[in-house]
Amino acid sequence: MSNTLTQPPAVGLGLWKIANDQAAQAVETAIEIGYRHLDSASDYGNEAFSGEGIKAAIDKKIASRDELWVTSKLWNTNHRSEHVRGACERSLRDLKVDYLDLYLIHFPISLKYVDPQCRYPAGWFYNPDAPIPKMEVDSVPIRETWEAMQELVALGLVRNIGVSNFNISLIRDILSYATIRPSVLQVESHPYLVQPKLLRYCQQEAIHMTAFSPLGAPSYVSIGMAKEADSVLTEPTVLRIAEEVGCTPAQAVLAWGIQRGTSIIPKTTRPERLKENLDARNFALSAEQMQRMQSLDQNRRFNDPGVFCEQAFGNFYPIYE
Ligand SMILES: NC(=O)c1ccc[n+]([C@@H]2O[C@H](COP(=O)([O-])OP(=O)(O)OC[C@H]3O[C@@H](n4cnc5c(N)ncnc54)[C@H](OP(=O)(O)O)[C@@H]3O)[C@@H](O)[C@H]2O)c1
Repeated sequence: MSNTLTQPPAVGLGLWKIANDQAAQAVETAIEIGYRHLDSASDYGNEAFSGEGIKAAIDKKIASRDELWVTSKLWNTNHRSEHVRGACERSLRDLKVDYLDLYLIHFPISLKYVDPQCRYPAGWFYNPDAPIPKMEVDSVPIRETWEAMQELVALGLVRNIGVSNFNISLIRDILSYATIRPSVLQVESHPYLVQPKLLRYCQQEAIHMTAFSPLGAPSYVSIGMAKEADSVLTEPTVLRIAEEVGCTPAQAVLAWGIQRGTSIIPKTTRPERLKENLDARNFALSAEQMQRMQSLDQNRRFNDPGVFCEQAFGNFYPIYE
């Protein structure tokens, strides 16, 4: 049977920050529980381990390759046309699949090429061992990268291409020359960062939107980019909606994300949370509850290169303003 998935399933497993020694088991368990969508990236450094989980699940016939939606992302150091195919092929090899359902340009940020033989994944610093490590920007037109992404579709290596962390103006620019349109935009979105205009624009252009960090702050506490108190999961409105609906606060937030038309890719390795998050598909919020959730919007972004590039990599590099 050929692949009938034309867009990512509503709930996926996010693989960022899953430790190498947990990734294979987490992926296999997730597929066993019913996940059919995996969100990976070369930058996460765990693709070879996640690939073990994908392979095990397919070998054990828990799911066939056709039933899975596997996303990966092109890292910032590989934006030049001559590096795009090699980067994609490395992700394919590591993930142990012969095509990706979706390949995204991870950020609209081009960094100087780093040979994978020297360091993989390359990360943000050009040379982390330098006395003063620096993030070295390369000026690559997005058109060059996009045209190389289109080639991957022609080669059968990927079925869909898209972008992540792009704003509307950059997407409009791509649409002006694309022979293959972006299928998906992946951006941060949760009740504190609703992005209604971005979602409306994507719906108008038939570009599917995937919400990353759909639970908001919790992902960023351990890396010093948010505080426990920033969590939307303890927000009284969320607690009340969860009680009304008869679900957990995380499920209420995730159900809101699904119901507004985004796919969501929450990360966890705990089997009970994997199930809890997938089960968010089974809860419906009323129009009034949807509105109350949306009213929590603070336009609060936790994952902002305009902040973290300067703090962590010494380079002021805003992209949304
Ligand atoms: N394109 C991009 O630039 C980009 C950027 C960021 C993320 N992403 C993708 O989006 C995925 C998800 O984003 P994220 O990992 O930043 O954030 P997230 O999935 O919203 O949140 C993960 C955090 O929430 C906790 N958690 C998970 N399920 C929970 C539940 N049911 N109840 C309470 N807490 C729960 C997790 O803890 P435990 O792990 O301890 O359960 C973890 O600390 C990533 O893994 C990655 O695939 C993409």
